Amino acid sequence: METARPLAVVTGASSGIGLELALQCASNGFDLVIASDRSQTEAEREIRARGAKVRSVITDLGTEEGIQQLVGAIGGTRVDALLANAGQGLGKAFLDQDFAALRRIVDTNITGTLALIHRIGRTMRDQGAGRILITGSIAGFMPGTFQAVYNGTKAFIDSFSWALRNELQDTGVTVTCLMPGATETEFFKRADMTDTKVGSQEKADPAAVARVGFKAMMDGEGDVIAGFKNKLMAAAAHVTPASVLAEQHRKMAEPGTSERH
Ligand SMILES: NC(=O)c1ccc[n+]([C@@H]2O[C@H](COP(=O)([O-])OP(=O)(O)OC[C@H]3O[C@@H](n4cnc5c(N)ncnc54)[C@H](OP(=O)(O)O)[C@@H]3O)[C@@H](O)[C@H]2O)c1
Repeated sequence: METARPLAVVTGASSGIGLELALQCASNGFDLVIASDRSQTEAEREIRARGAKVRSVITDLGTEEGIQQLVGAIGGTRVDALLANAGQGLGKAFLDQDFAALRRIVDTNITGTLALIHRIGRTMRDQGAGRILITGSIAGFMPGTFQAVYNGTKAFIDSFSWALRNELQDTGVTVTCLMPGATETEFFKRADMTDTKVGSQEKADPAAVARVGFKAMMDGEGDVIAGFKNKLMAAAAHVTPASVLAEQHRKMAEPGTSERH
């Protein structure tokens, strides 16, 4: 891809936080490669409206072929920022979930994210510069009763992000973890969680979440929790027994707890 401006690669840009992260990049001088599983026509239109070039890759980032397809589309173009945001959730009790669907959560949120960062991170280290933003979650601080595997994947990402950041500290490459709380996106519908309290309650604006994430990435911060209430929740989670957190999560994520009954 020919680009006169710095290049940002944003995954999961078809909707929600990823779309807003891509728009932040476009408004702040980046051209883009965006990737997700469905049509990104709306995202492409909005990015171009901000004066940025965009190349769109439709692929499953939970597979090795999908990652290769995205890396192939980037080709030899220098990547200045990688915003590894694609992810998905899955509600209901662990033993009642379909195992193939569960595995897809792990494949997308962990394996695909790692595979992409491994490839692009190496070229960033070689070029001596780069910014990596990974979308983790405050969900990573609590055992996710009725969303157990998803919270586990985010605990992995929250932890991995700090470790990679430390490993890269003298290389010119920064790693930032964006940790949103519940945000108004397609996430809960796709995770089959609209009948839960967390799925039905009022949530944060994805544009506001993306703004703080983008700024933290550009400032080279280690992590950022979006929203004051979420900062308090995260602080409390560090000193609350896991058994209590698991019970609190049940109240938010158990099927049938929707506030819209
Ligand atoms: N919403 C929240 O409350 C919340 C809170 C904390 C963290 N997060 C995290 O924020 C990130 C973005 O989620 P969101 O809330 O913006 O939800 P969303 O609106 O459902 O967006 C998820 C994005 O990820 C893409 N994606 C998911 N699986 C993919 C796969 N296998 N291959 C390619 N693309 C894939 C989706 O693309 P397709 O639609 O094309 O599949 C979509 O663009 C996720 O990592 C999520 O875990 C969300």
